[in-house]
Amino acid sequence: MADPVRMRFRRFVASSRKRAPLYSRISAALADWPGLEELLADAPDPARVPVNLFAAVHYLLLADPAEPLARFYPNLAGGRADTGDPAPEFLAFCADHSAEVRELVATRLPQTNEVGRASVLVAALGELPRGPRAHLDIGASAGLNLMLDRLAYSDGHGVLGGSDLVLECTVRPEGRRLAGELPVITSRLGLDANPLDLTNSEDARWLEACVWPDQADRFVRLRRAIELFVADPAPLRRGDAVADLRSAVAALGPGIPVATTTWMLCYLDAGAQREFAAVLAGIGAERDLDWVWAESPSVVDVLPLPDALVGSDPTLLGYSSWRDGRRTDRVLAQCHPHGYWLTWW
Ligand SMILES: C[S@@+](CC[C@H](N)C(=O)[O-])C[C@H]1O[C@@H](n2cnc3c(N)ncnc32)[C@H](O)[C@@H]1O
Repeated sequence: MADPVRMRFRRFVASSRKRAPLYSRISAALADWPGLEELLADAPDPARVPVNLFAAVHYLLLADPAEPLARFYPNLAGGRADTGDPAPEFLAFCADHSAEVRELVATRLPQTNEVGRASVLVAALGELPRGPRAHLDIGASAGLNLMLDRLAYSDGHGVLGGSDLVLECTVRPEGRRLAGELPVITSRLGLDANPLDLTNSEDARWLEACVWPDQADRFVRLRRAIELFVADPAPLRRGDAVADLRSAVAALGPGIPVATTTWMLCYLDAGAQREFAAVLAGIGAERDLDWVWAESPSVVDVLPLPDALVGSDPTLLGYSSWRDGRRTDRVLAQCHPHGYWLTWW
C-alpha cells in the first residue's frame, strides 16, 4: 500500500488522542497491520481515511451491539466500556467481516451533521430583525439544523423551547442569554452535495456511525435528533452550494430568506468560496436576505471580518444582512465548533 495512506493512520494516532482515545489506540495498530491494504482496496482515495474505516466498523456494530468488540465502545457499553487493548479484537473483527467493511469504505464517505450547532444559529437569529423566516441551510447534510425552531436550548440560566431534546450551550459573559425567543420559521429547505436521507435507516445508521464512540453524549443527542427529524422530516435537495444557490433561495416559501452555513464553506476551494459570497451578495442586492455563518476563518477566506480576525482559528459566528439592497455585516460571537458554548463579543 502507498505509504501516504498508512501515514494518515499514523497521524490520526496523535490528532485523535484527546477527543477519540479509542480510535487513537486502534489507529496505531492499523497503521502497521498487513490486512489494511486489502480492506481499503476498493475505496477511492478520499475514502481511504481512518474515519471512514472506523465508521464502517461502527456501522456494523450498531447493527449488532452484541458483537464482543462493542464492549470497548463507550457509547455502546453503557458506561462500562472495557479499557483494555481494543486493537486485537478490532483487527480480528475486520478480518472476519472484511467483505462488508470493504464495501462500506468503498461506497460511503465520512459525513457529519452536528445538531448542537442549532444553538449558535438560534443565537444569531435572535440578533436579526424579528418576523417569519424562510430557512435555507446550505451544506445541510441530513438536515438536522433545519429543526432549530423545534428544539430546546439550555444556556445555563434557563431553557428556551419545549422539546425533550435540550441542547446545552453555556453562554458568556455572565448575564447574557442565548436568545430571547425561538425564531419563527415558515418554510425550510436543506441544500447539500451529498445529502443523507434519515428516513432511510441505513443513512441514519451511517450518520450515527460517523460519531466517535468516545463522545457518547453527542451520540445520544444525535439519536434523539434523528428520531425527531424522522417524525417530521424537513425537505432536502441535492445540489451545489454555488451553482444551485439561486434556485434554492427561489424555492423557499414565505418569509425573509435566511441562509445558514455551519462548517460548510471549508469544503469549497478559494475560488468557489468567492463565487458563493458573490452569488449571495447578488441575491441580497435584489431582495431582503440574511446569511448566518458559523465557520473558522483559518479555513474560510470570504467571511466579512475585521482585519484582526482574518485567518484566526476559532469558530466565529456572524451574519450579513441585506435590507433594500444595503448590506450590514456583524461578527457576533466565538463558539465551540459543536455549539457547547458561545461567548458574545
Ligand atoms: C462538515 S459537514 C457540515 C454539515 C452541517 N452544516 C453541520 O453543521 O452539521 C459539511 C457538509 O457540506 C456539504 N458540502 C460540501 N461541499 C458542498 C458543496 N459544494 N455544495 C453543497 N454542499 C456541500 C457536505 O456534503 C457536508 O454535508
